[in-house]
Amino acid sequence: MTRHPGGEESTRRLIELAALPAGASVLDVGAGAGESLPLLRAMGCAAAGIDREPRGEGVEQGDLLRTGFPAGSFDAVLSQCAFFVSGDVRSALREAYRLLRPGGKLLLSDVFFEQPEALLRGAGFAVLTAEDMTAAWREYWLEALWRGDAPCCEIPKGQSSYWLVIGRKD
Ligand SMILES: C[S@@+](CC[C@H](N)C(=O)[O-])C[C@H]1O[C@@H](n2cnc3c(N)ncnc32)[C@H](O)[C@@H]1O
Repeated sequence: MTRHPGGEESTRRLIELAALPAGASVLDVGAGAGESLPLLRAMGCAAAGIDREPRGEGVEQGDLLRTGFPAGSFDAVLSQCAFFVSGDVRSALREAYRLLRPGGKLLLSDVFFEQPEALLRGAGFAVLTAEDMTAAWREYWLEALWRGDAPCCEIPKGQSSYWLVIGRKD
């Protein structure tokens, strides 16, 4: 089961909007069960995934805040619903920026408590796309609560929003 709003459809949309070149190397950080990996491969990418608690085939153990990969290793970094869970969005953005080659793209869908475009710009990215998915996030969260398997426990009090954003390392 995907653990982000919009499921596979939203992952596909992120990848399509990013218009990655054929064979692009993509690292999913916070990949969980690794459900993005077959989709990325089917869409022509070379995909790998890390998670601090890997739960699926092909996902390696790793910390998205300190991945250990050399700078400029990837054409794209994908992350869905994991920067927020890591508890340190700014460090997550900094590490994603470091991992990308110049011109590389960050494909992000996540919960935000600040304006996402400003956050990305603050980390050095040009913002190519920013779509508000808060309505889908609320629906997803309510359904998960109803089923009794809401992910990632606590949402701090305050105005949360959920965004699909694509940034480019210029
Ligand atoms: C809500 S789940 C989303 C999983 C997957 N991206 C998906 O959409 O199905 C959040 C994931 O982030 C991972 N995570 C949180 N902090 C992390 C960190 N510092 N490094 C690596 N993974 C982390 C968790 O282990 C969890 O698998």
